[in-house]
Amino acid sequence: MENVFEPFKIKMIEPIKMTTRLERERYLEEAKNNIFLIKAENVLVDLLTDSGTGAMSDAQWGSMMTGDESYAGCKSFYEFEETVRDLTNFKHIFPTHQGRAAEKILFSVIGGEGKIIPNNTHFDTTRANIEFTKTKAIDLVIQEGKNPLIEHPFKGNMDLIRLENLFLENRGNIPLCMITITNNSGGGQPVSMKNIRDTKDLCDSYGIPLFLDACRFAENAYFIKTREFGYAEVAIVDIVKEMFSYSDGCTMSAKKDAIVNMGGFLAFNDDTIADPVRNLGILTEGYPTYGGLAGRDLAAIAQGLKEVVQEDYLEYRIESTKYLGESLIEAGIPVVRPIGGHAVYIDAAAMLPHIPYHEFPAQSLACALYLEGGVRGVEIGSVMFGGIDPSTGEERFADMELLRLAIPRRVYTKSHIDYVIEILTKINLQKDLLKGIRITKEPPFLRHFTAEMQFL
Ligand code: F0G
Repeated sequence: MENVFEPFKIKMIEPIKMTTRLERERYLEEAKNNIFLIKAENVLVDLLTDSGTGAMSDAQWGSMMTGDESYAGCKSFYEFEETVRDLTNFKHIFPTHQGRAAEKILFSVIGGEGKIIPNNTHFDTTRANIEFTKTKAIDLVIQEGKNPLIEHPFKGNMDLIRLENLFLENRGNIPLCMITITNNSGGGQPVSMKNIRDTKDLCDSYGIPLFLDACRFAENAYFIKTREFGYAEVAIVDIVKEMFSYSDGCTMSAKKDAIVNMGGFLAFNDDTIADPVRNLGILTEGYPTYGGLAGRDLAAIAQGLKEVVQEDYLEYRIESTKYLGESLIEAGIPVVRPIGGHAVYIDAAAMLPHIPYHEFPAQSLACALYLEGGVRGVEIGSVMFGGIDPSTGEERFADMELLRLAIPRRVYTKSHIDYVIEILTKINLQKDLLKGIRITKEPPFLRHFTAEMQFL
């Protein structure tokens, strides 16, 4: 089919407040050119993140009305647990208020000074939670995964040679290996079934458990179905079950592929960590049958997990992201290839070669996109990952200067996406006029959230 078909219709709408360019100039100035500081009501199409921004279905809203709010042993927990177990087959399942809460508990239990945790690419909260326990976080994605222009069907794959070297050099110090599906920091790129299986075999031979950072597990399964030999005829649910069968546990942000606005979980098989995880969870998240969530939230997660593995939904999801990416390529805009699952990443360094790295080309593009069309993306470049290196006192820069356009699930129609394409095409025609940016005020860490900036 040529057209992207949205397999749902709209029953309830949320009006979008229209703004003029003049108004947006004022809003951006008030936000000191920091897109995070713009009020959401002043954004027309918000592509800041796909996390917690999805639209729930009528069945999910319905399940919220019948959610059980008992403190201990609520019915909604058992529905949630049964659905998660059906997909993952893990023995111990703990709800948490979001993904990073699951990370915090897991790494507090298994991390510590002198230890190392590898991943294809750690997401920033995962890295931060690992490093907080004085554990070292190492990224070992394949080389292709670091080059925006190389075409490879599974750019999120783990580099098994470097992983084995790490295992050999650090015997006894690696409590866990992780794989992030899909690899968010590397452009939403998938990991193949073969790579997950081979990683698991390698981990097994060194006695190291493998955990999945599973927040976009269904999108990863769809890529396996459509790109990996032997899976075209396999049902998504069975691909999902096979992926989890090669792991010993997972952390999950339900804000992505459970299509809810808040929630997460930590699940695994190892009996020896179940008690410390439960006890720490009680301290920080709450009683184990609610884990920082209302009963209705657990009910909505259970329903969302059933909907996300439906093939017509996933086809729409992946094809509509691809539609945005390929339309931008047609307009001559450089994007990370192939197009990932949840987002399109524009290579701002390639698009704006006249703006050097230290003048933040992706931030300049983010501001232009807001000014021109009220569209909000997020800079994933040197504003986010740069800053002063505490050990050398020198300015650090990111490997890539990207503008991420993350697509909320089931929220925007093809017309909204066409509008984004139109605005970016217009900006591309006048891109030589875009100016660099300098940071005028920044906090000591995670500066992208609050930094103040000025055009040069
Ligand atoms: N792991 C990955 C791969 C993620 O993308 C995120 C969140 C998390 C863990 C943490 O989950 O937000 O529920 O605590 N990613 C969001 C994003 C914030 O915009 O990509 P959380």
